[in-house]
Amino acid sequence: MSIPDDAPASVRREVDSLREQIEFHNRQYHTLDRPRITDAEFDALLAKLEELETRYGLQSPDSPTQRVGSEPLPGFVEVRHEIPMLSLEKAFSEEEFVQFETRTLKRAGIEGAIEYCCEPKVDGVAVSLVYRDGVLERGATRGDGVNGEDITHNVRTIHDIPLRLEGSDLTGTRIEIRGEVFLGKQGFAALNERAREEEDRTYVNPRNTAAGAIRQLDSRNTARLPLQMYCYSLGVAEGLDLPETLFETFDLLDQWGLKTNADRQLCTGADACLEYCRRLLEKRPDLDYEIDGAVIKINRLDLQRELGQTARSPRWAIAWKFPAEEKSAKVLAVDFQVGRMGTITPVARLEPVFVGGVTVSNTSLHNMDEIERLGLCVGDTVIVRRAGDVIPQIVQVIEQGDERGEVEMPKACPACNSPVELDGDIQYRCNAGLICPAQRRQSVGHFASRTAMDIEGLGEKLIEQLVDSGTVKNVADLYRLSAEELAAFERMGPKSAENLVSAIEKSRNTSLPRFLIALGIREVGDATAAALAAHFGDLEPLMNADAEALQEVPDVGEVVARHIREFFDNSENLELITALREAGVNWPAEETGTRDSLPLAGQTFVLTGTLERLTRNEAKAKLVALGAKVAGSVSARTSCVVAGESAGSKLTKAEELEIRILNEQEFMDFLERS
Ligand code: IVH
Repeated sequence: MSIPDDAPASVRREVDSLREQIEFHNRQYHTLDRPRITDAEFDALLAKLEELETRYGLQSPDSPTQRVGSEPLPGFVEVRHEIPMLSLEKAFSEEEFVQFETRTLKRAGIEGAIEYCCEPKVDGVAVSLVYRDGVLERGATRGDGVNGEDITHNVRTIHDIPLRLEGSDLTGTRIEIRGEVFLGKQGFAALNERAREEEDRTYVNPRNTAAGAIRQLDSRNTARLPLQMYCYSLGVAEGLDLPETLFETFDLLDQWGLKTNADRQLCTGADACLEYCRRLLEKRPDLDYEIDGAVIKINRLDLQRELGQTARSPRWAIAWKFPAEEKSAKVLAVDFQVGRMGTITPVARLEPVFVGGVTVSNTSLHNMDEIERLGLCVGDTVIVRRAGDVIPQIVQVIEQGDERGEVEMPKACPACNSPVELDGDIQYRCNAGLICPAQRRQSVGHFASRTAMDIEGLGEKLIEQLVDSGTVKNVADLYRLSAEELAAFERMGPKSAENLVSAIEKSRNTSLPRFLIALGIREVGDATAAALAAHFGDLEPLMNADAEALQEVPDVGEVVARHIREFFDNSENLELITALREAGVNWPAEETGTRDSLPLAGQTFVLTGTLERLTRNEAKAKLVALGAKVAGSVSARTSCVVAGESAGSKLTKAEELEIRILNEQEFMDFLERS
């Protein structure tokens, strides 16, 4: 490494001046949207500064050169939050909010109205920033609230985050600031426009995009996105006199040059808070950021401290969640999709609308009865609703189109032309099975999916080509594919072909539950597959079990038992199983024993909220495999509730009934121990 030249005073002055100029232009560009110089002129200033810093060893963590991103890190470092980052209790109605405020006042022994700080609940990602002596030292994600990930390299690229706090001398202080990192609506739209043009892709919604950007190992990827941050609280605060209220804390954050949300408001009493929420809901479409509710917090910090917190959330704040968002859109067409089991589902193609945080252009109409219930024709304008992470739904026709195209179920399958038949009262089906290319494609996709054989690199487009060219007629054919053969398909290079062949090779050694899922037996998902494997231990006893024996397995009722029997009574399915075994697919026998000897036998679990590291089905499968029952609602018989992020009424009920509650981390530890 070359030793930097000693910096003469004139160079130091030039470096200071360049830093000031760059910060000034950064602010003009990123905050005020009023650039004073061209991008090229800006780049020249930055290049000059970079050169001087390198030559004279004058790099500094608060220099604007730190904002452009740097070489990728090998991995994330875990950080522990000195003060846990909690989540918020939720109210879904005015009534629930009033109950919260009555309860809180009673607990605090206060009569009469108190002050609340009301803020928009920005739909982004919670981030913690630590400044030592006023200089940004560390940025971290919330993680599970106790442990997060070090994302300092990424937060440095966000222009809303000062690298050094402004204002008074902060020597000797250590200050943690918390807030929400997000992508504004305009920033997201511009990003998508660029992505569409340059990469032929679009991002689904601002929240997920921001969450992905903040967890990049290569901070140059983060720097490309116009991330913003609104700060809303102080965590650790050493060497500092704290204000008395939250509202004054916001003033302090502003003075330090951090961004705070100007749409906050001080409200006295519950009615004023509710009025704030109603007005915020009206203003929602005009805000330049996505929100999913309001946060109402007690303003006095001494009262906050007195009220304290539960394991999950503070007792002095509540999130008022907005109802589902609705938008109108025109129905351009109704297509019919063939599912893996041959079910034919009408799907509405819509004029794209941004609703509830995502762009919706297709939505399932479920069945013909639903179309009749809605009275829907092509050309009509409908209301599309989306709440939280729920799949968007058409709720109503609001305007009939000028030229209305009536929707009719096709007589022949749109994929294979076989006759379409009514199965039961409302479901239409193509019974061609694996002769139908649509069903073949989907069964291959299902076979390769993560919870089944987990074959990485076998995407939808390739499956389509493999099936349509006749190369793969059934899933056993996958095990005969060579890298040369695969490399000949569109968008496949020799390297990805080789990777795919090794992924297929790897999938040969699997487990019985995975294999059962992969077979695609009707209504046998992760949890049932785990229960079947634990009960029968291997495939043969399962294949030979009659309906009665099958129903001894938890999770298996009369209907599922019938589907399982039908599957194993079908000679084509038996041939396929033989072919897969001959291709080398194998699994170790599962440990059996009566389920009573399993560690969680006799216990009933309820899963609620969103888990970050497991899907609901994966969590259920793990519990069932350990002998537990998984129920849908909380009652006195519930042994334990697993509460993920945004858990709602089930969690409240569990707290009331004093049932054991595990958060995600505790649940993961518990699974490991069980
Ligand atoms: S206060 C102790 N204020 O909502 C709770 N949170 O479940 C501290 N959020 O993870 C949070 N806007 O990421 C607070 N104005 C706001 C917020 C806000 C968004 C997020 C935050 C947190 C989640 C609460």
